[in-house]
Amino acid sequence: MNISVIGAGYVGLVSAVCFAELGHKVIVVDNDPSKLLILKEGRVPIHEDLLPELLQRHLSQSLIFTDSIAQAVRASEVIFITVGTPSSSTGDADLCCVEAVIRELAMHITSRKVIVEKSTVPVRTCDSIRRTMELNGAAPHLFSVASNPEFLREGTAVMDFLYPDRIVVGVDDSYSEEKLSQVYAPLWEGSYYRREGLIPGDESHSPRFIITNTKSAELIKHASNAFLAMKISFINAVANIAERVGADIDQIKEGVGSDRRIGPGFLNAGIGFGGSCFPKDVLAFRAVARDAGYDFDLLDSVMRINQDQRHQFLRKVRDVLWTLRDKRIAILGLAFKADTDDVRESPAIEIAKALIKEGCHITAYDPVAMPRALEQIQTRIGDGTIEAASDPYTAAKNADAVLILTEWGEFASLDLTKLRREMRLPVIIDGRNLYRPEEMDAAGFVYYSVGRAPVFPSDRISAAPDLMFEEIA
Ligand code: UDX
Repeated sequence: MNISVIGAGYVGLVSAVCFAELGHKVIVVDNDPSKLLILKEGRVPIHEDLLPELLQRHLSQSLIFTDSIAQAVRASEVIFITVGTPSSSTGDADLCCVEAVIRELAMHITSRKVIVEKSTVPVRTCDSIRRTMELNGAAPHLFSVASNPEFLREGTAVMDFLYPDRIVVGVDDSYSEEKLSQVYAPLWEGSYYRREGLIPGDESHSPRFIITNTKSAELIKHASNAFLAMKISFINAVANIAERVGADIDQIKEGVGSDRRIGPGFLNAGIGFGGSCFPKDVLAFRAVARDAGYDFDLLDSVMRINQDQRHQFLRKVRDVLWTLRDKRIAILGLAFKADTDDVRESPAIEIAKALIKEGCHITAYDPVAMPRALEQIQTRIGDGTIEAASDPYTAAKNADAVLILTEWGEFASLDLTKLRREMRLPVIIDGRNLYRPEEMDAAGFVYYSVGRAPVFPSDRISAAPDLMFEEIA
């Protein structure tokens, strides 16, 4: 099929290359000339596994980039809108970019199209799109409007697209149902999983193809993200209780997550969720509920617990290090989660900023997010500073403590002896629970994590710092 994707952001880019991978001809539209230049050269502006390979595979053959909405509209049967919908000051999604695209689409439409909203938008946006199309002169028989929420996680977005649990399409007429069924047929019929040269995964995969009306599809997206965010806040709240009563959050997670009704996913306690989706989408859902006349105050608690989780972590750092001014701290991880260079709403960035403000000297290492992170953080705030290190061990040099803030795989398999040798004090405060406390105890560290008892042997803390290493070794 001939498909357009308008907006080459995270969702748009991943969707576009994956549509090409499914066998469609795809035109990607973006109004950022520098981004278009990079993409036309076959380079990817974000760190996302498999995206560079797929871009190389399909560029110029079934995937082209342009700044012309007119060209895209003329050539396509189905047009996906994937422009950004940031939070406004009241928490509502700001739909200005969507509206601007729709106005331009309306001007160029001359034959029947399906316009598919894929950005995360409030319920009833499809209705607003229909009205705006008509107001701007598009004849109603020339277009249908549908909703097709995405459930792509950064870092695994290509695999999430090609091997999804479910594909949800919200349609209000049979024409869009037919077209969207065709778009996704290689996945729900399974022909993609039998194809040679496919991106390998579980080839017995069979995603559910769920057809709903547009409003339900819009709500499915909000409800899914809000529910996952709620799971994270819930386990973080339980972790706080576990810490206070001497229980272990890993054991609790196993016990609770083994109930099939609950499931083990998204029950990792830590420093709270970040990223471009959960914080924005929970606020947007709250606003949607308010507009619909329902007070969904559970979502306020989800956000409050999430915010508090960062403060709890900072409190832990203060508990261990006492005063913070002039302490040297190594931070491992600044991305909002592993396998991405995205630092939007990253709890790690907020924690780093707070520590710099308190006068700490931070040396930070992140495998890919360092450049973006340093754009977000002033390198000097008051008396505190931050600088980048080239690896975890350099970051840890002379550190009073190492803080693990992103769950990168490489941080879970550090050479602990080497790390300890670099540090001034053997203190690790792990915001992602990457190690077992016993393991850290055996390696001679004072170890604090989330929802588990700290390892803080009194003989170790009473020892003079320079004696600690020998004694513990
Ligand atoms: C999320 C949704 O998962 C995806 O379906 C949606 O379309 C976009 O938003 P993403 O933001 O890429 O994806 O990341 P995700 O893997 O969901 O993690 C979000 C945040 O929650 C991260 O900060 C992560 O570290 C945190 N998290 C996740 C936890 O703290 N604990 C967990 O158990 C899982």
